[in-house]
Amino acid sequence: MSRRLSPERIAGLVEGAASVAGQVELSGLLRSTVEIAMELTGARYGALGVLGEHGQLVHFLHVGMDEEEAIAISHLPTGRGVLGTITRAGRTLRLDNVSTHPDAVGFPPGHPPMHTFLGVPVRVGNRVFGNLYLTDKEGGFSEEDETLVEFLALTAGSAVSTLQLQERLRRAALLEERERIARDLHDSIIQDLFAVGLSIQAQANQIDPIHADVRARLDRAVEKLDETITALRRFIFDLRPPVWARPTLRQQLADLVGQLSAPYQTQVNLDVSCPRELPPPQLADELLAVVKEALSNALRHSGAGAVDVQVDGNEERVVVTVADDGAGFDPGRVRRGMGLANMAERVQSAGGTFHLDTAPGKGTVVRASFPA
Ligand SMILES: Nc1ncnc2c1ncn2[C@@H]1O[C@H](COP(=O)(O)OP(=O)(O)OP(=O)(O)O)[C@@H](O)[C@H]1O
Ligand SMILES: [Mg+2]
Repeated sequence: MSRRLSPERIAGLVEGAASVAGQVELSGLLRSTVEIAMELTGARYGALGVLGEHGQLVHFLHVGMDEEEAIAISHLPTGRGVLGTITRAGRTLRLDNVSTHPDAVGFPPGHPPMHTFLGVPVRVGNRVFGNLYLTDKEGGFSEEDETLVEFLALTAGSAVSTLQLQERLRRAALLEERERIARDLHDSIIQDLFAVGLSIQAQANQIDPIHADVRARLDRAVEKLDETITALRRFIFDLRPPVWARPTLRQQLADLVGQLSAPYQTQVNLDVSCPRELPPPQLADELLAVVKEALSNALRHSGAGAVDVQVDGNEERVVVTVADDGAGFDPGRVRRGMGLANMAERVQSAGGTFHLDTAPGKGTVVRASFPA
């Protein structure tokens, strides 16, 4: 920090920065950044312009002008002129008279005259999130003011980034919760209702035709149950996270490979080339099950230096291959475990074909091919 800052000003900055960093909501954070910057420098007016993706001004928050004054101005800043200069240059601009700067376009009608000016970019990560503007300090802004406001802008940027991260985490947690509720509803309630419906139906079929009215009432009850199940299904469908929020097959595979291979030295290569919408969720589960078993076999039994896991998909087929350069084996002579047999059976009952290619000394290739 600059040597020229007095202890009082440093204390003021630390206090101000702490209060900015403590904000739990974005608009409060931006407002307090402007207010504290004004307080620290003695500026009469302060503002913060938030920039959109293409550097355009999407939000302009101002402090120091009363309602009447603000309303009298014909329009909000457009981000041209000197304000645009800061955005383009991405660095601080300190001026004694903003109107005489070569980029100045003049104030809109009704705007109070402003002279001294200090503009500082607020960065979030490596992108300029917005600019902090201060104007009209008696005697002009000093180099000290510049240092103070730059520090404050730094704090504000990191506080904004923390808030954004928290927001993302909250959304992720919400999606996970929705997925869990949907699964619970599906697995327990719908199956139960379904079973109740079936048993009522069976009872109704046993009823003596003399009691036609009872039977009719039971039939209506079953219909009602069916309607409820349909409504619940629709509800569950709405609850499921949207497609873009579900983990992709690539992510799930990467997680699985990471988990399984962590305890081993073996190098595992993952290569997924599959359109994003493929495979359908049901197939994705089968595919993950194959990778899980084949890869854990390769890691546990083969002594391989490397294992290649490959998924290749097109509109017709999705093929998964797990190949190791390990010891290989004679399928007729090994102890029969559950893994290989289960895997082959799973693949076949999902309509796919299973292929095992191995021999002692030549490594093992497991391949499963599913209709997409
Ligand atoms: N990639 C491989 N390299 C070398 N040997 C293998 C490989 N995959 C399977 N084997 C041999 O085949 C046997 C049977 O495999 P399988 O997956 O059926 O059973 P497991 O892995 O021993 O037990 P489980 O899968 O039930 O935990 C293994 O015990 C091992 O001897
Ligand atoms: Mg196994």
